[in-house]
Amino acid sequence: EASALSAQDYDLGDHPDFMHKEISEQPAAARRVLGGRLDDRFATAHLGGIRLEPRELRGIRRVTFLGCGSAYYAGQMGASLVEELARIPADAEPASEFRYRNPVVDPDTLYVAVSQSGETLDTLMAVQELQRKGGRVVGVVNAVGSAIARQCGQGIFLHAGPEVSVASTKALTNMTISFALLALLLGRVRDLSAADGRRLVSALLDLPDRIEEVLRSEPEVQAVAKQFAGARHMFFLGRVRGWPVAREGAQKLKEISYIHAEAYQASELKHGPLALIDSSMPSVVILPDDELYAKNLSTVEQIRARGGPVIVVTNADVPGDLADAVLRVPRSEPELDPVLLTIPLQLLAYHVALELGRDIDKPRNLAKSVTVE
Ligand code: AGP
Repeated sequence: EASALSAQDYDLGDHPDFMHKEISEQPAAARRVLGGRLDDRFATAHLGGIRLEPRELRGIRRVTFLGCGSAYYAGQMGASLVEELARIPADAEPASEFRYRNPVVDPDTLYVAVSQSGETLDTLMAVQELQRKGGRVVGVVNAVGSAIARQCGQGIFLHAGPEVSVASTKALTNMTISFALLALLLGRVRDLSAADGRRLVSALLDLPDRIEEVLRSEPEVQAVAKQFAGARHMFFLGRVRGWPVAREGAQKLKEISYIHAEAYQASELKHGPLALIDSSMPSVVILPDDELYAKNLSTVEQIRARGGPVIVVTNADVPGDLADAVLRVPRSEPELDPVLLTIPLQLLAYHVALELGRDIDKPRNLAKSVTVE
């Protein structure tokens, strides 16, 4: 079976564990998911696994992403991309919630089932529920030959290569890149201009090199991890594009370090959680250099004014003393910022967990694929 692991996949090479190996493989994985799928001439994407005519693509009135855990957060990044680039209403929901709430299935919605393993039971059941009600569903899956890939019958393969570590990294990055391709395709049969299409195509082509650049900052992230590994709780804050990034960052930290982490929309801070801020509650603030920069900057100031330590993750030219720690990533196009902003958070969780002596690849109580209710 194509999804089976070969002996080579279990070879760690120079890496101490699979999570580190898989984080480091992201530039190559990103090149694979993009390979042959970008069309320079028409500034669009080719997704051979999605068998929908341009007329059918134009008929889609909503896109709903379904997945569990990190696949759901990736779906939220996908919903932003589709809304921004294709101007189609889009949302994401945990597949587990979707299947239990007797959803109204709409024939003009494109449902996207997202899963690294392709075996997550809740996601598979959501797909079956959708198909039973006549819903149109495509899979975005890493494991070829998996149950969800077979059940959907069409979709996008992630080509991230086998992922062994329970904490998903390279698969999640490739999910977001795939959604950018899908958004580009949907956008270019609608109102996304050729110029904007070209802007995205060239930014996508550039992305693997930019990911490599982020990985080179690992020593800086490691130093920050040492500084904050003693925390009992941590906030992760972001707005709009930064919000699923914050959720994914909190998820990674919880999963492998067992530190309590909570993600919040930065805009909601003053409506309650600000009361928790003090010197023992560090916050990670996602600060992209986009139209919400000033708003996010004032979030940093509000937290610091109350004595809260702040780690900023940014692609803006901020001074080093803006926060207690500044983790920098290169610029991309704003729509693709979430891809690069997520990677320092993988490294942060990784180095905090290492510092605390956790079992990185096999965190307690968790399984790589959740095939039970
Ligand atoms: C990610 O780090 C987690 N291990 C978990 O949330 C995972 O993403 C989720 O269980 C979904 O798995 P899947 O992508 O294989 O369906």
